[in-house]
Amino acid sequence: MTQTVMITGASAGVGRAVARAYAERGARLGLIARGAAGLAAAERDCRQRGAADVRTYQVDVADAGAVQQAADDLAHHVGGPDVWVNDAMVSVFAPAWEITAAEFRRVTEVNYLGTVYGTLAALHHMRPRGHGAIVQVGSALAYRGIPLQSAYCASKHAIQGFNDSLRAELLRENPGVRLSMVQLPAVNTPQFSWVRTRLPRHPQPVPPIFAPEVAARAICWAADHGPRELNVGGPTWKARLGNVLAPGLLDRKLAHDGYDSQQTDTPIDPATWRDNLDGPVDDGADHGAEGVFADRARTRSAALWVSAHKPALSAAGLLTVALAATGLARRRR
Ligand SMILES: NC(=O)c1ccc[n+]([C@@H]2O[C@H](COP(=O)([O-])OP(=O)(O)OC[C@H]3O[C@@H](n4cnc5c(N)ncnc54)[C@H](OP(=O)(O)O)[C@@H]3O)[C@@H](O)[C@H]2O)c1
Repeated sequence: MTQTVMITGASAGVGRAVARAYAERGARLGLIARGAAGLAAAERDCRQRGAADVRTYQVDVADAGAVQQAADDLAHHVGGPDVWVNDAMVSVFAPAWEITAAEFRRVTEVNYLGTVYGTLAALHHMRPRGHGAIVQVGSALAYRGIPLQSAYCASKHAIQGFNDSLRAELLRENPGVRLSMVQLPAVNTPQFSWVRTRLPRHPQPVPPIFAPEVAARAICWAADHGPRELNVGGPTWKARLGNVLAPGLLDRKLAHDGYDSQQTDTPIDPATWRDNLDGPVDDGADHGAEGVFADRARTRSAALWVSAHKPALSAAGLLTVALAATGLARRRR
């Protein structure tokens, strides 16, 4: 069946990789972002890769009415949406006391409320039809805050709380509409070359770094199978487990190395650095899916494979135990 898929933050990074993956499946696409050049490039890219249809929406996800209008337009012209991926994000890299009240509000409006608005727009069309899949693009940081990213981490925690409430409501009233959150590790995207930062050196994702295609594979898998959560990459598992077992120890480890691990050795010039917090870096260039760390990015995740095959692996494990127990019982007789 040809799916209709809406993706927010679809012009660059993870969202662009998701758009490419669905284009290669021949899906009909709705792409949301603010910058005209990025959207136009994403549309060309998706058409070349085989998308059945592509509609672009130059919309800020912090504008609930505009997000709803985009959803209505997509539904009216091509149907659906069958899948809605909330991916758009912004951040500010700085200690909390250097982030202004307006910046905290903006990050919350884009990341958290943008996700809520996207979800409400999706539900408006999915609930009457009784089916659909909503995927929130989350992070290991939805469970574990790290230094220099308080506004971003808080917004991801908020999405996780919102999801738990909504999931229970849907299970009760609309079980055909599935809600998943995909917790990503560090991904090589343009984010780290246009995030607002007050740090002296170039921002980087905390290594190990994964290629955007790994994130896209996980997001498409979640939309297909509807798990409540999908943890991608060993670092995501480690962060979540570490936070449950020894949160205080993690606080001290992050205090010690959390500043350096989020910056390269290259100094940046604040006078020429352009960020995308209040508006897009719309410089006419196509920023694509990948960032500047391609040489360090892993293209596979064994932990994702395990997460995605959990039921099959559990069944195989149970079968092995049962066979071993039967063999043991026979030998005793
Ligand atoms: N990269 C990582 O290491 C990492 C790790 C864990 C989780 N994630 C998650 O992955 C998702 C994508 O991150 P990314 O690294 O791919 O980001 P990115 O490279 O900065 O791309 C962000 C995308 O969102 C769009 N966008 C930003 N603000 C928007 C707004 N207000 N309204 C509409 N579109 C907006 C951008 O286009 P315009 O600027 O043109 O609007 C762009 O298409 C996020 O949810 C993030 O939390 C990323």
